[in-house]
Amino acid sequence: MEVQSGDLYDYPKYYDLVFGSDWKAELDFLEGGFAEHARLPHVRRLLEPACGTGRLLYRFAKMGYDAAGNDLNEKAVAFCNARLKRHGLRESAVVGDMSDFRLADFRPVEGGRGVKPFDAAFNTINSFRHLPNEAAAEAHLACVGSAVRPGGVYVLGLHLTPARGAPESDEESWSARRGELSVVSHMWSEGVDRRRRVETVGMSFDVYTPTRSFRLVNRSGFRTYTARQMADLIDKAGVWEVAAVYDFAYDLDAPIEIDGRTEDVVYVLRRKPAV
Ligand SMILES: C[S@@+](CC[C@H](N)C(=O)[O-])C[C@H]1O[C@@H](n2cnc3c(N)ncnc32)[C@H](O)[C@@H]1O
Repeated sequence: MEVQSGDLYDYPKYYDLVFGSDWKAELDFLEGGFAEHARLPHVRRLLEPACGTGRLLYRFAKMGYDAAGNDLNEKAVAFCNARLKRHGLRESAVVGDMSDFRLADFRPVEGGRGVKPFDAAFNTINSFRHLPNEAAAEAHLACVGSAVRPGGVYVLGLHLTPARGAPESDEESWSARRGELSVVSHMWSEGVDRRRRVETVGMSFDVYTPTRSFRLVNRSGFRTYTARQMADLIDKAGVWEVAAVYDFAYDLDAPIEIDGRTEDVVYVLRRKPAV
């Protein structure tokens, strides 16, 4: 099979096919979590930093939420907006860096004056770990903090690195088909460098069409966080308090306590009142 290397996020059609069917549990959890933990009369305006193809954002928009997002990848943003438009929804995704943005970067709702703060934000499946260093991570929490109103929440899901011992070995494969296109995806960890705080993650898409089949392969560095490093970061950012923590079971009835061995975490952060 022909092999090409490249950024898999540059192939939103394949990304969305592979990840796109997996949204219901996250969506229900997010909606329930906003209602349970936000100290606001209602949650209507949503922000997804690193929204990608809009796997979740599009579905929230379809449910009637006013949902916006940003992403570094222009192709993913174009894919996201094209799908929103096709369904008669607002093209609300913008190209932007999740560690360097302002409320004014998002498009105002038609007829509205300025961009109103968001009631809630969400960022699941490790996107946050793309931020390469502490300064970017801290800037990210500050940017989201300045875009979300006090009492609003930020739901942040990532894999933590256990304080001791080896992380669970992660390797996953799954496949998806739409019409004559089929994609088999494979993701694996190539190891954690604890000193540099980088986990190298490989991912490939085997793409099959009636006329061609090829493999796209990519390796990228994901920043690592222990529970302690994450707690320190949230503290340092200053604008968020931890309202609750869950795991990737996305069960609102089963909050967890983090200890040194915890790996999958979904923090529900609540925006502190302005001082
Ligand atoms: C795993 S994908 C998740 C996409 C989407 N949130 C989802 O749940 O399907 C990670 C996304 O993060 C984006 N990304 C990486 N670094 C970024 C940054 N600094 N600012 C904004 N987006 C970023 C990538 O382009 C990619 O679309």
